[in-house]
Amino acid sequence: MTAVIVTRGLVKRFGRVRAVDGIDLDVRAGDVYGFLGANGSGKTTTVRMLLGLVLPTAGEVELLGRRMPRAARSVLPRVGALIEGPAHHGHLSGRANLSLLDASGPGGSWRTRRRRIDAVLEQVGLAGVGRRPVAAYSLGMRQRLGLAGALLRRPELLVLDEPTNGLDPQGIAEIRELLLELNRQGTTVFLSSHLLAEIEQMATRVGVLDRGRLVLQDRLATLTAPTGATVVRTPEPDRVRAALDGRVTAVDGERVVVKGDDPAEVNALLVGAGVPVIGLAPERPTLEEVVLAAARAAGDRVEVRERGR
Ligand SMILES: Nc1ncnc2c1ncn2[C@@H]1O[C@H](COP(=O)(O)OP(=O)(O)OP(=O)(O)O)[C@@H](O)[C@H]1O
Ligand SMILES: [Mg+2]
Repeated sequence: MTAVIVTRGLVKRFGRVRAVDGIDLDVRAGDVYGFLGANGSGKTTTVRMLLGLVLPTAGEVELLGRRMPRAARSVLPRVGALIEGPAHHGHLSGRANLSLLDASGPGGSWRTRRRRIDAVLEQVGLAGVGRRPVAAYSLGMRQRLGLAGALLRRPELLVLDEPTNGLDPQGIAEIRELLLELNRQGTTVFLSSHLLAEIEQMATRVGVLDRGRLVLQDRLATLTAPTGATVVRTPEPDRVRAALDGRVTAVDGERVVVKGDDPAEVNALLVGAGVPVIGLAPERPTLEEVVLAAARAAGDRVEVRERGR
C-alpha cells in the first residue's frame, strides 16, 4: 500500500500547551481516513502542519511521499484542502471566488477554466447560486464553496477539516456521497470530525486524537470486528439463561449476550426450548465503545508515567 500521509513523532506546542503530542499518522492510497477527536484535541493544528501552514515543534510530515513543508510547491498542487472556516471574498460571488483561486494555478484557456468551475459548483450543489455574493451565503453554502475550491484541481488527495461543519442533515448526506464517489474514482480522502457517527459511516481507516495524542489507528472493519459472541433479543431473557446454561455472559433488558459465534446454532437451541427470539446477530463493538476504551487506556498510561516521575 502506498503511503499518502505519514507523520513521525509530530509535535506542536503553543507555549505550555502541547496541542499535538507526538503522533504517527499512516494514511494509505485509497483510504477514507477518518481523523476523529473532541473539540480542542488538535485536529486543525495537525491538518495545518500536514499542509505546511504551521511548522511543527518536532517531528516530520511526508505528503504523497515528499517531505513537507520543503516540497510544498510540488506537492500542494496535487492536494485539495479545506480548513476550518474557509476564507472567501464576501463581496464577490462564489463563482468569482473560485475563478480567483483557479487563476492562481496553471490550467489552460478561459473556456477550460470556466468549465472546471461549473463542474465543481455542480458537484457541491451550488450550481444555482454561484453568482450570488458570498456575503449572502449561509454557513453551509460557504462550506460547500470551500469544498468546491478543494476539488478544482482534481486532487489525488483531499485533506478536509470538518467538511460537514454547518451543513444540515441532507447537506451532510450529499457531501458524504460526493466524497465516497470521489474515493471510488481513486481519490484518497483524509477528513477530520468530532462526530463519531460521521466517521463510522464513511471511513475505511480511523485515527483517534485525544488531547493531542493518537490513541487509536486501524481499519474500521478491524476495530469493529465480531467479538465471537452472539446477541439475542428476546422478551424473556431469563428463559435464555435456563436454555443455555452457563453461556450467558450479560443481560441488558431484552438484550442477552451468549458465548458462541454461530447465531444459527444459538437460534436452534432457543427455538428447541420454546424461547421467543426477536433477533440474533454476531456481537460487534461499536466504534464509540472502541474509542472510549482506547482513550481510557491512554489516560491510564499517562497516569502511570506521571506517577513514575
Ligand atoms: N494559534 C494558537 N495559539 C495558541 N494555542 C492554540 C493555537 N491554535 C490552537 N491552539 C490550541 O491547541 C489545541 C488544539 O486546537 P485545535 O484547533 O487544533 O483543535 P481541534 O481538534 O481542531 O478543535 P475543534 O474541534 O474545536 O476545531 C487547543 O488547546 C487550542 O486552544
Ligand atoms: Mg478544528
